Amino acid sequence: MDTAQASAVSSKTISFRIWRQDDPNKPGHFEEFKVPYAKGANVISCLMEIQRNPVTVEGKKVAPVVWDSACLEEVCGSCAMNINGRVRMACSALVDKLQQPITLEPMKKFPVVRDLTVDRDRMFESLKRVKGWIPVDGTYNLGPGPRQSQKDHSVMYVLSTCITCGSCLEACPQVTLDNDFIGAAPISQARLFNMHPTGKLNAEERTRALMGPGGIQDCGKAQNCVKVCPKEIPLTTSIAVMNREVSKLIIKDIFFKEEEQKASAGPG
Ligand code: SF4
Ligand code: FES
Repeated sequence: MDTAQASAVSSKTISFRIWRQDDPNKPGHFEEFKVPYAKGANVISCLMEIQRNPVTVEGKKVAPVVWDSACLEEVCGSCAMNINGRVRMACSALVDKLQQPITLEPMKKFPVVRDLTVDRDRMFESLKRVKGWIPVDGTYNLGPGPRQSQKDHSVMYVLSTCITCGSCLEACPQVTLDNDFIGAAPISQARLFNMHPTGKLNAEERTRALMGPGGIQDCGKAQNCVKVCPKEIPLTTSIAVMNREVSKLIIKDIFFKEEEQKASAGPG
């Protein structure tokens, strides 16, 4: 690289429009920033650059931008945000592939905490609702567990890659700030744990958790979830599978109710 090329690169900048909101109850606004161009930069590395020198394009010194991130390799799920209007992981969003100014906004289906940070509690509560875990019966050696078929294992592995980022809820038109639709990720996790040889023991409980208010029946089949999932989890298949399980339980309930009615009516 000759001197002219080097100085052209060093004078290049990356432009950002970033949503600023000090408090969940205060109105927000956009602020514009420019950071020096760096080859291969991602959105988080640019946010770090802004954090080092939080000065807007108008030369105004402002509070550093607040965002969530941890792993920086699309594993922890904490950095999900709207980038140029589409929810995605900021750590894997390369600026060379984004149109500028790059607009950063918090996810809108979760309450804003500050700037780009949101409270994703809704999703974690939903995972509790479907008992998204395998109960451990003591800490003693239980011996080898039941064998899993290779076929089940390959399905379960993909489902287990969910990073609880919340992108599927953000993209879903059925999820709003003031309703309690459970969303695709917890439904898919219910499918995962219902397939597990030990998790099967609580399968009915998990499936019933999807039947109440805000349950699987509120899915509008928009299929946006599957388009935005960074792990390419087959969410619409999970929803279809769990829908079938819910239908089986509904039929079972009707059958038992009829049996009960017959028994209480007595002979004759
Ligand atoms: S299912 Fe995909 S989009 Fe939804 S929380 Fe998990 S990783 Fe994120
Ligand atoms: S920082 Fe962990 S997924 Fe982006």
